[in-house]
Amino acid sequence: MSQILTLRRPDDWHLHLRDGAMLGAVLPESARHFARAIIMPNLVPPVVTARDARAYRERILTALPEGMDFTPLMTLYLTEETDPDDVAAAHAEGLITAVKLYPAGATTNSASGVRDFDKVRPVLEKMAEIGLPLCVHGEVTDPEIDIFDREAVFIDRVLDPVRRATPGLRVVMEHITTRDGVEYVTANDRDLAATITTHHLVINRNHLLVGGIKPHYYCLPVAKREEHRLALRRAATSGDARFFLGTDSAPHTDPLKQSACGCAGCFTAPNTMSILAHVFEEENALNRLEGFTSLHGPAFYGLPPNEAQITLTKGDTVTYPDKIETDDGPVTVFDPGFALHWQVT
Ligand code: DOR
Ligand code: ZN
Repeated sequence: MSQILTLRRPDDWHLHLRDGAMLGAVLPESARHFARAIIMPNLVPPVVTARDARAYRERILTALPEGMDFTPLMTLYLTEETDPDDVAAAHAEGLITAVKLYPAGATTNSASGVRDFDKVRPVLEKMAEIGLPLCVHGEVTDPEIDIFDREAVFIDRVLDPVRRATPGLRVVMEHITTRDGVEYVTANDRDLAATITTHHLVINRNHLLVGGIKPHYYCLPVAKREEHRLALRRAATSGDARFFLGTDSAPHTDPLKQSACGCAGCFTAPNTMSILAHVFEEENALNRLEGFTSLHGPAFYGLPPNEAQITLTKGDTVTYPDKIETDDGPVTVFDPGFALHWQVT
């Protein structure tokens, strides 16, 4: 007998759609299941002004196939030159939903990010005043800090001081990968939430490195030890509204991944809902999937949950294409390493 699960339509609170041919190819993969997504601004050049965000939003809506219902929630890329008034005006006109902080050099296309946090203080203060959330890529970039420790050190050295110095600033710790991240969120009950990706619920650093290096499992923040993956699974399936889905689906073409210096990013848009249903079922938490994918995010962002519903059905093995083709080249779909049985129907 097949099992059926009906959820409010999910949203993706952290998504990379890119631009041009890649945007055209990956957008339908998200829009098929997700009603809204927070769109990451790390294009080349990045989306730094309200004007950039307006133009990018138009390109996304133009690329959306006829008949698909999808709302991009735009973000601005915080730089040391960001103008607090431009941010406030973009927020007031409903153009942007958040501002994104990348420490300079932390990840793909983050060269224009922040080096000196004192320089962005006026923007953060304005954001606290108007209630505009800051989405944070939480890794230090100090070469002395081991890559597996960069999230935990960021919390101590950067995030906690910034939050203390800016009361009322609403922060989303993006794609947390550690027990330290989970504990920091649960220890702070105001103005703080975290997104968790699909892939970090599935892989640990052994999956990435044992038996040969797996470029399609390389992302940032990099997957950590198993104890951290288990902490993320507990948080995601706990029902705690401070944790919600941000897939960080981040397409790169195969030549850019399968390289001596491969790009970071897992492309999970096509099969995320199938994988999440599998994970939540394993954790005996199918009744909490809707909170994670469809309720907690809107609640944090002060938006209504979606009225539309999706149905997931459990049955025979569901297969997804290994790759999607784009005019820029093939993009490999994240392989969870186990058979999937839940399908959005
Ligand atoms: O794995 C990642 N890919 N992490 C990021 O922070 C950026 C993203 C990308 O843009 O490819
Ligand atoms: Zn990302």
